[in-house]
Amino acid sequence: MADTAKKPTLPDAQTVTQVKHWTDRLFSFRVTRPRSLRFRSGEFVMIGLLGDNGKPLLRAYSIASPAWDEELEFYSIKVQDGPLTSKLQHIKVGDEIILRPKPVGTLVHDALLPGKRLWFFATGTGIAPFASLMREPETYENYDEVIMCHTCREVADLEYGRQLIESLPDDPLIGEFIGNKLRYYPTTTREESPNMGRITTNLLNGKIFNDLGVPQICKENDRAMVCGSIGLNTDLKEILEGFGLTEGANSQPAEYVVEKAFVD
Ligand SMILES: Cc1cc2nc3c(=O)[nH]c(=O)nc-3n(C[C@H](O)[C@H](O)[C@H](O)COP(=O)(O)OP(=O)(O)OC[C@H]3O[C@@H](n4cnc5c(N)ncnc54)[C@H](O)[C@@H]3O)c2cc1C
Ligand SMILES: NC(=O)c1ccc[n+]([C@@H]2O[C@H](COP(=O)([O-])OP(=O)(O)OC[C@H]3O[C@@H](n4cnc5c(N)ncnc54)[C@H](OP(=O)(O)O)[C@@H]3O)[C@@H](O)[C@H]2O)c1
Repeated sequence: MADTAKKPTLPDAQTVTQVKHWTDRLFSFRVTRPRSLRFRSGEFVMIGLLGDNGKPLLRAYSIASPAWDEELEFYSIKVQDGPLTSKLQHIKVGDEIILRPKPVGTLVHDALLPGKRLWFFATGTGIAPFASLMREPETYENYDEVIMCHTCREVADLEYGRQLIESLPDDPLIGEFIGNKLRYYPTTTREESPNMGRITTNLLNGKIFNDLGVPQICKENDRAMVCGSIGLNTDLKEILEGFGLTEGANSQPAEYVVEKAFVD
C-alpha cells in the first residue's frame, strides 16, 4: 500500500497528537517521538515553531513524559506576548512543531548519590520534569519514598499534576513500581486550599515535615530535585544546604540538583 503519511515540512518536525488546555495560562500537548531520540527522564530539549522571519523560534522545554513512552509530552505556559507561546498555545492535533533531538539537563538520577527518600520541589510549570520522573521505574527502584511538593498561585494551576499523580497508582505500566511510595504535597499561595504556603516557608517552619510525618531533611537519607523560578531555586538551594545537602551534577553526583523552569 502507498505511504500516505504527511511529509514533514519543518526541520526536525514532529506531529502533534494531543492538546489539553488546563487554564487560560497552562496547556499540555503530546507529539510523535523521533525514532532516534534517547533521553533520560527529567531532561529537556529545544522545541518551537517557524518564526515570522522563516527561522526556527526555539525554547527549552522539559520532556514531561517518561523515557519509555512512545510519544513525547510537554506542559507549557501561555505567555500572551511571548514570542513562542503566543503562537504555540494555538497548536492543534495534526500540526507540526520543531523538536531538536539533543536532550540535556541536571534533573536526572545519575546526578544524585543513593538515598532513602527523594524530594521533588516544583513551582508552576516546574512540575514538567517530575511528570517524567514520577513515571520512571528507576525512581521507585532507587528510593523507599518519593515526595512531590508542588506549589502554585491558584488551585487550578495544580490540576495537571494532580490528575497525573492520582492516575499513577492504577497505571498498568508504572502502577506496580509505585505501590504506596509516591506522596503528593500540593500547596497554593494566592487562593485558599487545604495546604497553603510557599515551599520555602513550609520547609523552614517545619510544616511540610509535620504534615507528612517525616523527619527533617538530612544528608544521610534525603535527596532532592528542584525546578522553579530563579528566585525559588536560589532560596531552596540555601535551605537545602542549611540541611547539609550539597549540589550535584552529572559529572559529580551529590545530594540535590536544580534546574530553571524558565528564565526571567
Ligand atoms: C531548562 C528550561 C526548561 C524549561 N521547560 C519549560 C517547560 O517544560 N514548560 C514551559 O512552559 N516552559 C519551560 N521553560 C521556559 C521556556 O523555555 C520559554 O521561556 C516559554 O515557553 C515561554 O516562551 P516565549 O517565547 O513565549 O516567552 P519568553 O520570551 O521565553 O518568556 C517571556 C517571559 O515569560 C515568563 N515565563 C517564561 N516561561 C515561563 C514558565 N514556564 N512559567 C512561568 N513564566 C514563564 C518569564 O517571565 C519570561 O521572561 C523552560 C526554560 C528552561 C531554561
Ligand atoms: N500564575 C498566574 O496566575 C499569573 C497571572 C498573570 C501573570 N503571571 C506572570 O507569569 C510569571 C510566572 O508566574 P507563575 O505563577 O507561573 O510563577 P511564579 O511567579 O514563579 O509563582 C509560582 C509559585 O511559586 C511561588 N514562588 C515564587 N517565588 C518563590 C520563591 N522565591 N520562593 C518560594 N516560592 C516562590 C509563588 O508564590 P507567591 O504567590 O507567594 O509569589 C507561587 O506559588 C510571573 O512573571 C507572573 O507575573 C502569572
